[in-house]
Amino acid sequence: MTHSPTLSLTPELSIPQLGFGTWKLRDPRSAIGQALQVGYRHLDTADLYHSHGAIAEALADSGLPRQDLFITTKLMPQSHGAKQVKEAVQRFLEELHTDYIDLLLIHWPSRVPVAETLGAMDAARKAGQVRALGVSNFEIDLLQASLDTGILFSNNQIEYNLKEQPQEVLRFCLEHGISVTSYTSLERGTPEQEARAAQIAKKRNATREQVLLSWLMHKGMIVIPASSNAAHIESNLQSLQIKLADEDIDYLEKGVLTE
Ligand SMILES: NC(=O)c1ccc[n+]([C@@H]2O[C@H](COP(=O)([O-])OP(=O)(O)OC[C@H]3O[C@@H](n4cnc5c(N)ncnc54)[C@H](OP(=O)(O)O)[C@@H]3O)[C@@H](O)[C@H]2O)c1
Repeated sequence: MTHSPTLSLTPELSIPQLGFGTWKLRDPRSAIGQALQVGYRHLDTADLYHSHGAIAEALADSGLPRQDLFITTKLMPQSHGAKQVKEAVQRFLEELHTDYIDLLLIHWPSRVPVAETLGAMDAARKAGQVRALGVSNFEIDLLQASLDTGILFSNNQIEYNLKEQPQEVLRFCLEHGISVTSYTSLERGTPEQEARAAQIAKKRNATREQVLLSWLMHKGMIVIPASSNAAHIESNLQSLQIKLADEDIDYLEKGVLTE
């Protein structure tokens, strides 16, 4: 069975670099169950996705111990703020049938000052309900404001794919010890980018999707592809076997052949 390598999130906690996204799955319990069966050990959810219950069911079906699994979930704007975070975390734990969340993210920025929300998340961490904190869809100014709170947070989940390549946000995060998770990693690029991805896939005896996931992991990101299709669930995990060379990355990103 293939298992993902991990990246260090905090001194005490590691995250599998390849996880499974749970947004808009056709039959979430079944798809998550298949993912666990083939070897995924990191599930990405959010209050918005209504997949907490399916995760609890799939984990119970699998017979896996809770500690073998890494669960990320996210707070919507109505759950930002001191009192709201406390209530949401309690509800998430009940929905997930667990007594801790591995990584809790602010799903996207809101009008609530980030110091207040991060402060309440940190209180949940100190109470043992959450193991690590992070944010999502944060740009550099808000990342800096978050750093200025002095509260340790270790992840920013952002859209990063062929079409959207926010390289400055990626660089800022990595320079400040904030890991980056790419979402919607499989989004289609321009016809030229797609042609280059197809060429690399042919050369490396891989699928287009495996090349894209491998590219993002090569750049140090965490990936969380979603799928309701058993063959895709399996082959996305097998992207861990694809090793791209620097020349493949250059060609994919810039269309430059450096070989
Ligand atoms: N933080 C945020 O704001 C945010 C926003 C969006 C998403 N996310 C998270 O990121 C996860 C992934 O993003 P996403 O769901 O937007 O997009 P994605 O994982 O890039 O793409 C999912 C789509 O690609 C298809 N697909 C998956 N593997 C494939 C393969 N090997 N070959 C062909 N098609 C394949 C799936 O169809 P099939 O089911 O047919 O395979 C599905 O339509 C989400 O589930 C969610 O957990 C977070």
